[in-house]
Amino acid sequence: MSYGQQGLKKEEEISRIQEVSSLKRDNFKITVSIDRERSMSQSPLYNQYEIQKYNLHPNYSFAHLDDMIPKGTPKFIDSGQHYVERIVRAFYYFKQCSLIGPSGTGKTHIVYLVAELCGLPVWEVNCGLSTSAYDLIGRFIGLGKENWIDGLVTRWLKLGGIMYLDEANMMKQDVATRLNPVLDTRGHLVLNEKDNECVERHKYGYLILSMNPYSAEFSGTKPLNAAMRRRMAVWINFDYTSVGDQISPVEVKMLRGRAKVSEDIAYKVVQAGAELRRQYKAGDIPYGPSLGDLINWATLIYDGNTPNVAAEETIIALTSDNSEVQDDIRRIIETVFPKPQ
Ligand SMILES: Nc1ncnc2c1ncn2[C@@H]1O[C@H](COP(=O)(O)OP(=O)(O)O)[C@@H](O)[C@H]1O
Ligand SMILES: [Mg+2]
Repeated sequence: MSYGQQGLKKEEEISRIQEVSSLKRDNFKITVSIDRERSMSQSPLYNQYEIQKYNLHPNYSFAHLDDMIPKGTPKFIDSGQHYVERIVRAFYYFKQCSLIGPSGTGKTHIVYLVAELCGLPVWEVNCGLSTSAYDLIGRFIGLGKENWIDGLVTRWLKLGGIMYLDEANMMKQDVATRLNPVLDTRGHLVLNEKDNECVERHKYGYLILSMNPYSAEFSGTKPLNAAMRRRMAVWINFDYTSVGDQISPVEVKMLRGRAKVSEDIAYKVVQAGAELRRQYKAGDIPYGPSLGDLINWATLIYDGNTPNVAAEETIIALTSDNSEVQDDIRRIIETVFPKPQ
């Protein structure tokens, strides 16, 4: 089947491909035992998510790219949004999807988790960095056809797995123009540089975009290029688990599990974090802390520092190197952890 077929799959494709593993004949009795379809991965978290019916590479192994398949990715917490299942489902039906949310809400984390759960290698491109079309498509490193080296996207097209375009809204126009044909039903790339060689998209080549609606900090957000936007069937919104007055007990519990602080400290750290996130989303400060950042802060508290001292070299320094902004952050933290007079 060529890439890009939309909507439901044909019946026979959905029906599980089962394998007859043994056929024994003893005394006129025939025993046929049937193996369940092999699972997509050996991930220890595989059965904790409802993804078993979406096999993303039936009867195809990515063992030859094993070092590109993530291992040991921590669990992803959500409050019933079922992000993992929604991403796997989008891959199954549409081959690609988009994640939108502020930085630190776990977009990169979940891409790695989905790759591990589905046994797929990850190809990652940060579009915010000065990635050129040469890096993605390929280039000649000398004269003659044999001196061509494939770029990342070309290798992904040939070998399959997940292409992760981080900060896709920061992508330069010339790069987007080259990528667009890969994202639609034509699903191939023409290497004009190399005698118009045509590279088809791998049968199990999946693509995921992520973008930060508040990125580029105060210099304004760039909307995703319209041609690319049209080609994505599924958009999934991410947000912090706790923001403003909304404190998630799951996030507090997760923090306690990872940094071993008391319930009271864990709650207050999340509370301060939630306020910083609210102000970041309102455009008042340049960064909102992720769960990972709060875990780092709490780890230094656990080590014996006061919350205010521990915040200095973690949350405060991380948010900005501008001393006025740092003062603002310090004040926000003091509303939750007042300094002894
Ligand atoms: N819902 C979540 N469950 C578990 N960890 C999370 C979650 N959200 C964020 N994190 C942690 O916060 C940190 C930042 O997440 P990351 O995936 O880099 O965010 P993003 O890519 O959206 O900027 C990582 O350490 C990640 O493990
Ligand atoms: Mg990220």
